[in-house]
Amino acid sequence: MSQATTHIETIEGEYNLNNYDEIRENFDWSDAKALLSAAKTGKINAAYETIDRHVDEGYGDKIALHYINEGEKRSYTFKEVKDQTDHYARILKRHGVTRGDRVFVFLPKTPECYIAILAVIKVGAIAGPLFEAFMEDAVRDRINDCDGTLLITDQQLVKRVPKKDIPSLETTLFVEDIEKEPLQPVDGDDYVEWVDWEDGLIIHYTSGSTGKPKGVLHAHRAAQHHIVTGKWVLDIKDDDVYWCTSHPGWVTGSVYGLFAPLLNRATVVIQGGRFSAENWYSLIEELGVTIWYSAPTAFRMLLSKGDLYKDYDLSSVRHVLSVGEPLNPEVIQWAWNSLNVRIHDTWWMTETGGHLIVNLPAEKIKPGSMGRSFPGIQVGILDEEGNELPHGEVGQLAVRTPWPGLMKEIWGNQDKFKSYFQYKGWYISGDLALQDEEGYVFFQGRNDDMINSAGERIGPFEVESKLIEHTAVEEAGVIGKPDELRGELVKAFITLRSGYQESEQLLEEIRLYVRKNLSAHAAPREIEVMDELPKTKISGKILRRQLKALEIERANKVKN
Ligand code: WT7
Repeated sequence: MSQATTHIETIEGEYNLNNYDEIRENFDWSDAKALLSAAKTGKINAAYETIDRHVDEGYGDKIALHYINEGEKRSYTFKEVKDQTDHYARILKRHGVTRGDRVFVFLPKTPECYIAILAVIKVGAIAGPLFEAFMEDAVRDRINDCDGTLLITDQQLVKRVPKKDIPSLETTLFVEDIEKEPLQPVDGDDYVEWVDWEDGLIIHYTSGSTGKPKGVLHAHRAAQHHIVTGKWVLDIKDDDVYWCTSHPGWVTGSVYGLFAPLLNRATVVIQGGRFSAENWYSLIEELGVTIWYSAPTAFRMLLSKGDLYKDYDLSSVRHVLSVGEPLNPEVIQWAWNSLNVRIHDTWWMTETGGHLIVNLPAEKIKPGSMGRSFPGIQVGILDEEGNELPHGEVGQLAVRTPWPGLMKEIWGNQDKFKSYFQYKGWYISGDLALQDEEGYVFFQGRNDDMINSAGERIGPFEVESKLIEHTAVEEAGVIGKPDELRGELVKAFITLRSGYQESEQLLEEIRLYVRKNLSAHAAPREIEVMDELPKTKISGKILRRQLKALEIERANKVKN
């Protein structure tokens, strides 16, 4: 290990006086619950805890949201967000939304998107946030899967909602119309539907290696996990300006872009528009961001801009976190040298509902490791029989069940849900990892064919299914090809139907077909035509592993 890396390892407690040894020793999940008003009142609603509670406790005038997008800037106090969520809630109720209904929100990253999600939760319905870049098929499949009855969207995005193909969808509301209706501020409690801890809160669709995306349903009890990890991992204090770069359509954007920071009464930054290094740095400078949560791909893109950071005053930033894909030691080193901060990796999944493996702010960081289990969480590395392996051995990354953020179910798919719990008392992540004597966990890869490109999880089956819908494609095998910037890029191997000739133009057309119908992030960046795809002898299944091995072999040849 280099000198500089050792230096990072020994930096401790720069900006935080929390005694983490004590937290680790004495932690109990009831401490998490005690942070919520529900612990005292017995009345549960996660949206109330996130917004209204702070107004009731006298913080109504504090800024809850800053929105910034290409010169446009707006801010909302907690009182204003509460009034807005009441407004949206009133309209939802007028349209007959009741407890347990699935209500989808398809909006760009704007305050209205956050407010709409909170309003859905406030009336006791289940929020289904959709990523703003989803195309028709992705939107249709998700709403259909859980029979969504109402959709909140805008005049632009509605063009990608194939309403005819979504029979359950009774009502579509436009934010443009909702915003036009006059606010009628009334006593807030009128709109809060008190629910049970086990009631559905939010549904996020995520890819596996087989089948269509699955609806991961979380319960209101997850608020306990959100608030306590917001406190100890995000390290939110009263004056913090907090920015998570993810869209609420992804679990990082809902749990750590919305719930966790606002439960801890942080001022949250919402940034519209696409990634640009200049815009990102100037946003940090302009708003004085103190806590910043992003992903390795974004950090690598900033790193590739060299000295650009020197043009900005980034000294407000005191705490940085990363999630979604392996965080390279070079990136940690870059942040330390240039921005003068440590990057704290965090590991969790859509299914886990909150952080499980973390680098707490004042603890030692080991570059290359994702950190240690969060207090109250027990990690195990298991062999194929479900037995725990000793330190240093690679096996299946597993976590002792239960914990408050753990998903409640996979919508309409009990078998899939059960498959995560095949060893008694454990949740199986599908990741491979090892753990050292100090409990630090080192990610080693996936145990299945799932692709992770720029921190986004992509199921090969979904992409393959879309590819073979194209008239020119006979068969397809899709894998993640190792990539410097994105971690992995989506690569498709295909065979062509007879009568079709390989050409640049045809391949581009096929790529655009997936992009237009599924989504941009899942469209293959590379397509390679083969005469035949490798298959298993007996069942004739396409051997993705062999395709991946081929790519890795080629990459190694280039290196040597
Ligand atoms: C998969 C989960 C909810 C977090 C955002 C992604 C990979 C996640 C890390 C990390 C290496 C990571 C795993 C995991 N992953 N965090 N810190 N280092 N890999 O959530 O879309 O549900 O994907 O992302 O492979 O299983 P997701």
